[in-house]
Amino acid sequence: MGNFYDALRKAESERRGRAGGSDDPLAPRQAGDVDARVVAHVDKISPEMEQFRMLRTNILATDPAHPPRVIGVTSSIKKEGKSITSLNLATTFAEQRDTKVVVVDGDLRRPSLAEMLSVSGRFGLSHLLTRDLPLNKAVYETPIPKLHYLPAGDPTENPAELLGSKQMADLIDVLRAEYDFVVIDTPPILYVHDAGIVSTSVDGMVYVIKLGVTPRERVTKGLEILERSRARMLGLVLTNVSRGHQTVSVSEYYSYSYQG
Ligand SMILES: Nc1ncnc2c1ncn2[C@@H]1O[C@H](COP(=O)(O)OP(=O)(O)OP(=O)(O)O)[C@@H](O)[C@H]1O
Ligand SMILES: [Mg+2]
Repeated sequence: MGNFYDALRKAESERRGRAGGSDDPLAPRQAGDVDARVVAHVDKISPEMEQFRMLRTNILATDPAHPPRVIGVTSSIKKEGKSITSLNLATTFAEQRDTKVVVVDGDLRRPSLAEMLSVSGRFGLSHLLTRDLPLNKAVYETPIPKLHYLPAGDPTENPAELLGSKQMADLIDVLRAEYDFVVIDTPPILYVHDAGIVSTSVDGMVYVIKLGVTPRERVTKGLEILERSRARMLGLVLTNVSRGHQTVSVSEYYSYSYQG
């Protein structure tokens, strides 16, 4: 994990070096039926898209013999860009030839992928984990080719318990057999246990940091929780980085923004 703490220090110095910068710069835009913030879908040659390709490449390179295929996404606190990052990463995997991908809304508390994808479905993860339901009843096609979507399902009183259940482990095995890549969006790790729990059954985690917003101590605390869960860390994603400030876009970093 040492390299991640080095990475954090770099992130912090970038944060200090930033002059100003807004918290939440742009309201969502819609492009056709998919939220335009899914840059990998709407603008295939954008610098943001290149950042996601780099993230994809580097995730695959963490273990070339057995590339991670089931990937969780989390962050320290809310509104750092986890869900948008999950969708962009999944879309980037799906653009590879002959590659089938499913993005899972593992945020059972405040799901948001349905709105971003403009896909609604009756069943989802909560149903698969609590009833005898075939996978294809809860997985939906999206406007993005070769990207399927598994919604959160109905609100449940015990999300952490469900995500830590044997049914969840079994479901991940099924998804692994059915898809080339599985990307799981989760809630912020400092608020609830869900992401730490999910981290134990995936191949690795991507950690999102909203630059200039999330205090360093919170990032350190979140990463410590993942470390204690023995999660494999696949990469850090910096959000809220303007195009003029992409000097941190090196190996561990994949920064992108809507500004600029
Ligand atoms: N790269 C980015 N640069 C600037 N703002 C961003 C970036 N990514 C996401 N945001 C903004 O952050 C807000 C939250 O995005 P998103 O819903 O993906 O975050 P989240 O971490 O999943 O939130 P939650 O904790 O509520 O699930 C959105 O308003 C979005 O516009
Ligand atoms: Mg979210």
